[in-house]
Amino acid sequence: MHFFKYKGNELFAEDVPVRKLAEKYGTPLYVYSHATLLRHFKAYDDAFDGYPHIICFAVKANSNLAILRLFAENNGGADIVSGGELFRALKAGVSPKRIVYAGVGKTDDEIRFALRSKILMFNVESEAELQRINEVAGKMKTKAPVALRINPDIDPQTHPYISTGLKKHKFGIPIEDAIEYYRAANRLKNISIVGIHKHIGSQITKVSPFVDALKRILFLIDELNAQGVNIKYLDMGGGLGIPYKDEEPPVPKDLAKNILPLLNGRKMTLIMEPGRSIVGNAGILVTKTLYLKQGHEKEFIIVDAGMNDLMRPSLYGAYHGIIPLKRYRRANTFADVVGPICESGDFFAKEREMTGVRQGEYLAVMSAGAYGFSMSSNYNSRPRPAEVMVKGRKHFLIRERETYKTLTDNEKIPGFMK
Ligand code: LLP
Repeated sequence: MHFFKYKGNELFAEDVPVRKLAEKYGTPLYVYSHATLLRHFKAYDDAFDGYPHIICFAVKANSNLAILRLFAENNGGADIVSGGELFRALKAGVSPKRIVYAGVGKTDDEIRFALRSKILMFNVESEAELQRINEVAGKMKTKAPVALRINPDIDPQTHPYISTGLKKHKFGIPIEDAIEYYRAANRLKNISIVGIHKHIGSQITKVSPFVDALKRILFLIDELNAQGVNIKYLDMGGGLGIPYKDEEPPVPKDLAKNILPLLNGRKMTLIMEPGRSIVGNAGILVTKTLYLKQGHEKEFIIVDAGMNDLMRPSLYGAYHGIIPLKRYRRANTFADVVGPICESGDFFAKEREMTGVRQGEYLAVMSAGAYGFSMSSNYNSRPRPAEVMVKGRKHFLIRERETYKTLTDNEKIPGFMK
């Protein structure tokens, strides 16, 4: 459910015609719906009501400060994977006591920053990392709170690039070795074991992989408890998939219904790290049709957004719905929707049935709120788009469009050149 709907023949973001935003702020433009963001965040928070929990929004899905602030205001936490994300989360007002830190390659600087900030826990992905965190914490005369990221070897049945919980993946610690790792962690002077973490992949459209993985983890928790290791935080990793096309993923309530009974009588705090399902359908990318080009074999709709602005179609062959901001009664055409970048991979759709497309008119690339702006780049020296948040009849610029000046601000010409 989201709040991008046609009223008559005009696409609205909540109560604002999207065309008005395109004209005011220019294109390409990311537009987010405040009501959708909040609704999706609360769907998780409410679903797990009754069991102690923290919804730690996965910052990598969308790291705009205004969006992070919205969740922080609603008691949300953050799942981070870098010093930059930690900086953003803190700046947006997320309480450090609600921040969990994953990632296979944390640097010393990042570890120090997180320790100084007193985050809730590090989700540790290898023995070497555990040693490193212990050393850094020792030098800082403190103890690092850690969870071990356990790889439960469950197939999430999703795209191979976004599947993470199998033995062949670089993430986490194999479940068979978990007890040994926990024992090793227990012996380290500057490590305090507080939790367990797992994340098996993204865009998961069934409840069963979550349940299967959780059962394995609970079995492990029982063994750990028997050995005197107390697990306070159970971090279930990322959230559910979303409908991009015709998927019918479960909603947080379905997930909770299947998970909470398994946690009955267990005194822990549950952590979830949803990203996509909170912001994905709460954002669109608005783009202008620059040219219609009739090739020998195909028709092309050339738009002013490119793979640098939204790379999911190029990178994963991901499907995003594309609809006109204004519906016209015109014949349908089959066309490739492509950007201006000098790469054949620069497309948003291939041989897609499109209706009412006109040169100079606008299109909305749907479900672009997650892993959209956050994965954007300046390739082809394209300033990145502006971002706008709509709330009812109001709209707010939450990130200014980059300029030619900001593109080159950090570059320097060495003194030996004239
Ligand atoms: N927690 C961890 C440790 C993760 O690695 C991820 C996503 C999440 C949480 C959030 O998962 P979600 O709720 O969004 O499914 N760029 C790809 C997705 C990469 C996901 C990486 N990790 C895409 O555009 O589909």
